[in-house]
Amino acid sequence: MAENDIITIDGPSGSGKSTISRLVAARLGFTYLDTGAMYRAVGFKARKLGIDLSDGVSLAGILENVDLVLAPGEGDTRVILDQEDISLAIRTAEMGLVASKVSAQPVVRARLTEMQRRMGRQGRVVVEGRDTGTVVFPAARHKFFLDAKPEERARRRCLQLREKGLQAEEQEILAQIIKRDQDDSGRSLAPLKPAADAVIIDTSHMNIDEVVSFMLEKVEKPGQNSQTNSQGA
Ligand code: DC
Repeated sequence: MAENDIITIDGPSGSGKSTISRLVAARLGFTYLDTGAMYRAVGFKARKLGIDLSDGVSLAGILENVDLVLAPGEGDTRVILDQEDISLAIRTAEMGLVASKVSAQPVVRARLTEMQRRMGRQGRVVVEGRDTGTVVFPAARHKFFLDAKPEERARRRCLQLREKGLQAEEQEILAQIIKRDQDDSGRSLAPLKPAADAVIIDTSHMNIDEVVSFMLEKVEKPGQNSQTNSQGA
């Protein structure tokens, strides 16, 4: 049975997921759940404590009594870890790679997946990430997978980082995006991939409004939602 009013939006870094997920959630009056922020928070804490990012036992220790709060922010989700606001600190390109590393650890995935299911249980939620349609909410009513060419994603990521006052060099970001794509898609556990019943949207040549309108139409006219794996709008 479909999970009520759960919309999953997965895709690689820079595909427009975050902005689009936030807008779709706002238009529908749904809650927005940024699962990537949770992996970033775990990576941040591991780094802070000097823990080896592939040491599952120590990472499990971090997660035992984790005090992690996600709250709506002006732009990105506000992330409070152990009463410290780490919203900006987790948004660097380096923290993206750190998050990707810790996200390959089974203990981290198990714990965060459980937290995400609890957070989304009440429904009326847009959940964004890499495995939200395949693993976290496999019975979600609407699933989308956003993609775009790596060069376009690097360009967008650069702009985003610069808007936040962070330093960004496009070639470096492109290399990081390609590396993160390989790591996220290549891992054996919950790899980045579209769910079999996801609508795939290539956003390379679409602006944000076009993608949002396309998705809302799919959500609001479920009769036309049966088409799977449609490329583009
Ligand atoms: O969406 P993001 O860039 O904030 O995600 C950071 C990393 O976290 C991403 O490279 C892989 C990991 N991640 C994941 O494995 N599963 C998710 N549902 C969300 C993020």
